[in-house]
Amino acid sequence: MNAIDVIIAKRDGRRLTDEQIDWVVAAYTDGDVADEQMSALAMAILLNGMDAGEIARWTAAMIDSGERLDLPDVGRPLVDKHSTGGVGDKITLPLAPLVAACGAAVPQLSGRGLGHTGGTLDKLESIPGWRATLSVDEIAAQLADVGAVICATTPTLAPADRKLYALRDVTGTVESIPLIASSIMSKKIAEGTFGLVLDVKVGTGAFMKTRERARELAEAMVRIGADHGLATRALLTDMSTPLGCAAGNALEVAESVEVLRGGGPADVVELTVALAREMLELVGLDVDPAPVLESGAAYPVWERMIAAQGGDPSAPLPRPSHVEELRADRSGVVVRCDAHAVGTAAWRLGAGRALKEHAVQAAAGVLLRARPGDEVRAGDPLMELHTDTPAAVPLALAALAGGVVVADEPVVAPELVLGAIR
Ligand code: URA
Repeated sequence: MNAIDVIIAKRDGRRLTDEQIDWVVAAYTDGDVADEQMSALAMAILLNGMDAGEIARWTAAMIDSGERLDLPDVGRPLVDKHSTGGVGDKITLPLAPLVAACGAAVPQLSGRGLGHTGGTLDKLESIPGWRATLSVDEIAAQLADVGAVICATTPTLAPADRKLYALRDVTGTVESIPLIASSIMSKKIAEGTFGLVLDVKVGTGAFMKTRERARELAEAMVRIGADHGLATRALLTDMSTPLGCAAGNALEVAESVEVLRGGGPADVVELTVALAREMLELVGLDVDPAPVLESGAAYPVWERMIAAQGGDPSAPLPRPSHVEELRADRSGVVVRCDAHAVGTAAWRLGAGRALKEHAVQAAAGVLLRARPGDEVRAGDPLMELHTDTPAAVPLALAALAGGVVVADEPVVAPELVLGAIR
């Protein structure tokens, strides 16, 4: 076998054989296929696609590049969720404690953010003392005791994906349905959860810009789950506007705490409850999560989950050294608050990183003071820009140009949950 033949086969639109897939994924993981060869293959896959059989085999090869987590019985059913990533998407933070408060256990192995969408670990690392890295024994003990763990993925879990994802990120090959589906599902299958609910985002702030593409991705992932005996469902949800009012690490933690205490923005509550419902149904728990969330009963689970990983849930969150307001230049109704524009602004303010080696600013981000549908008067604040590097503000404002629009008449906003694949 050699890499050039595999690249040429896919470049010319041919189906890869099982042997070619097994070989190329293993050889890339071992360093026997070079980054430039894998980049060319990833681009050929992005352009020419893979059929369901190829995607299934590619996923299996990525799982086999490492070890399965092999969690012991923790006395509760294991169920996880994965979002394809969006702006202000802090849902994992209230969701994991909520589902644990309802009787399941959530092993959420997460990553750091790259580009305009934030990473769950970056958000939690804004809590003083909180530690992302746990051993497998610590994960199992916390699942049995608290019922929820959000931590860094272990180095032995699908190492082929770690290498390939970093490569795709710098070669314009992230937005390939076969590559996204196999990347996400290989990690979740290797993690050993019993059930999985996928939140597939659609809109300007998401990888998938149209419902058709999002449905195609969701169907590919649900099919991979079924092939591997993992009970999988997917919701298609809107990402044309940020979720909630906060986009940025500490800002999103603060908003999640509001939700866990029974308050918070309506869309964050709605999506948290919708995903929790799917997760609980999947593992056969007949509990309505809505009153549990509203009552604040998930908040003590959050406190225990944070404290178990060295964090102080009552410590003040970092504050930015500089806050600038963006104000409405006319009166009317906010008709557009574009997720991609807000995500890029938050990223430029320091909430995200351009290279994986970069550090993020815990306090940086965007806080919306008006959301689509809200009436504003000329001069009212539309959003706050938070940063420790004021020189970044003009860049953030440039990203927001045209992204926030005030008009005379309201427009009909899309539903938050656009569809489901069960
Ligand atoms: N998230 C992943 O884990 N992998 C992808 O390819 C895209 C989003």
